[in-house]
Amino acid sequence: MTTEKQIAVVTGSNRGLGYAISRKLAQIGVHVILTSRNQADGIAAKEQLASEGLIVDYHPLDVTNDASVQKLTAWLGETYGKVDILVNNAGINPTPDPEKSSLLTMELETIRSTFETNVLSVLRILQALIPLMKANNYGRIVNVSTEMASLAAIKTDYYPLSPAYRLSKVGVNALTVLLAKELQGDNILVNTYSPGWMKTDMGGENAPFTAEEGAETAVYLATLPDGSAQGQFFAEMRKFGGPIQLQW
Ligand SMILES: NC(=O)c1ccc[n+]([C@@H]2O[C@H](COP(=O)([O-])OP(=O)(O)OC[C@H]3O[C@@H](n4cnc5c(N)ncnc54)[C@H](OP(=O)(O)O)[C@@H]3O)[C@@H](O)[C@H]2O)c1
Repeated sequence: MTTEKQIAVVTGSNRGLGYAISRKLAQIGVHVILTSRNQADGIAAKEQLASEGLIVDYHPLDVTNDASVQKLTAWLGETYGKVDILVNNAGINPTPDPEKSSLLTMELETIRSTFETNVLSVLRILQALIPLMKANNYGRIVNVSTEMASLAAIKTDYYPLSPAYRLSKVGVNALTVLLAKELQGDNILVNTYSPGWMKTDMGGENAPFTAEEGAETAVYLATLPDGSAQGQFFAEMRKFGGPIQLQW
């Protein structure tokens, strides 16, 4: 199957921010590949979008699983022969458990498993899909981070300590900068952003923003023109009225 449309892969897009990003990309005419680790959840999300007239494709993806990433990559290569946009959204935050909220008492396994999903799995997917971007000399990569990973802000911000989560997202930011350096000269732009505190399963009901609002900056970064931002850390646009950069 060939398509003139841009092809976007969004990880963890059965609910929350990933679903909202998929929806917004589909609304502007991008051909979205919705992915989820639980097939039934992903198909239900696809059907929900279809009920709004938004036709997206679906493929299973557990970001922590090599074979799952390889299957998706092979399918994308055979079906479309390219990937234009990749949104690395899937993530976990073990913070609600108080034992896991102190560096002094938490199990190292909590940090290890959080890094597996939030950092190593991002790298796993980048290694798999960037060749499909390079083949087409085009790519836009959006890594979902958090302002909780701004080292400059940690001393004074009001967020929970969340050590495993913060350390992992600092890793995502570092990965973004290093990858940008490695991609110099390619028309593949990689950036990281904070969607703000959102009302999702992860963010909880007290959050000030919706997932739809948090998705706006992802769409902006996914559709950057050639030669624009590379290796930068963006804030949630709505809060500031436009794209601004966060301090690392
Ligand atoms: N919510 C906030 O306030 C907030 C703030 C800043 C940044 N973020 C970031 O935004 C992103 C999305 O968060 P959210 O609020 O939408 O969280 P969420 O509602 O908990 O959704 C997380 C998504 O990631 C998926 N996921 C987790 N592990 C996965 C795996 N191994 N393979 C594939 N998918 C996996 C989940 O799938 P299942 O349904 O199968 O679990 C789900 O679709 C995360 O990277 C998060 O760190 C969120």
